[in-house]
Amino acid sequence: MKITTVLLATLSSALIGCASVNAADPSAKDFQRVVDAAHAKYKNLQDGKNADYIPILTETPSELFGVVIVTREGKIYKAGDVDYKFSIQSVSKPFTAALIMNQQGVAVLNEKIGVEPTGLPFNSRLALELYEDKRSVNPLVNAGAIAAVSLVQASSEEERWNLILQNISGFAGSQLTVLEKVYDSEYETAFGNRAIANLLYNYERLYSDPEEAMRVYTRQCSIGINTKELGVMGATLANLGVNPLTGQRMMPAEDVPELLAVMATAGFYDESGEWMYTAGLPAKTGVGGGIVAVVPGRFAIAAFSPRLNEAGNSVRSLNAIRYIAGELGVGVFGPNPAE
Ligand code: DON
Repeated sequence: MKITTVLLATLSSALIGCASVNAADPSAKDFQRVVDAAHAKYKNLQDGKNADYIPILTETPSELFGVVIVTREGKIYKAGDVDYKFSIQSVSKPFTAALIMNQQGVAVLNEKIGVEPTGLPFNSRLALELYEDKRSVNPLVNAGAIAAVSLVQASSEEERWNLILQNISGFAGSQLTVLEKVYDSEYETAFGNRAIANLLYNYERLYSDPEEAMRVYTRQCSIGINTKELGVMGATLANLGVNPLTGQRMMPAEDVPELLAVMATAGFYDESGEWMYTAGLPAKTGVGGGIVAVVPGRFAIAAFSPRLNEAGNSVRSLNAIRYIAGELGVGVFGPNPAE
């Protein structure tokens, strides 16, 4: 093992040690209580609306709502519609970033995509012009995620897609498939993303043919997932890269902090600051209504509900996760107030 690897491993276990000493240590009863309470508290919240720029997402029943906690030991605590399959959308993005880190090393993310939060909406074209050196800015906004799929090393489009699907399935602990109607609906209307792919290609920050990147990226966003599986994906990050259900190592432990750092600074797009200020957890959202948050070294909190706020983040899901984080006192910088 390299000295830097040893140092990083020591540092990450020291940080995890601190987290479990400083924060409360919830029991199984606490986990089930807060999951039930979060579901009850926000199940009648009507704020926001389904995403409509992907036409088929308007058809998802807006009242669906699921909340889970999945621990690093693989215990699942659940409430509500946790088995409903919705499209993963942007929650897929950190996991493909992990695949690139696995294939090509941690530095590649910064060099070929970027790790700066944009402070701009997830589909911003302006960001590409503002950040002239990095262009795609970070792997969690659309530009960076389209660049990320193009960067996955493979000898064909099919192989690239299979690597991405198997990687996300590995994090979820079950074989996932694409919701083909979501794919068709998004691909036919993805004019903004197509503009981004072409601009990136023009600036030599896209690493495959633009239309191929569009197909693979849109397929990735159309993967069907349920709230439990989303929780397992987060729990795999909480468990330092090992899926707690299958025991499969999905990424090296020493790369997890870098990925969580990008989730902390950019996982909620132009609401990332407010999210960290009020909830204190690295997280990722998607316009399908899913959100997963990670309590490093301990557990994940995931939620799903289709109605979104202006930034494209699920209103019920973000409230439920923030409430649970506050109740359990598990914000990474110390306990945040429970609401
Ligand atoms: O590219 C898009 O616009 C969607 N497939 C994903 C966007 C998304 O999920 C943003 N998240 N909140």
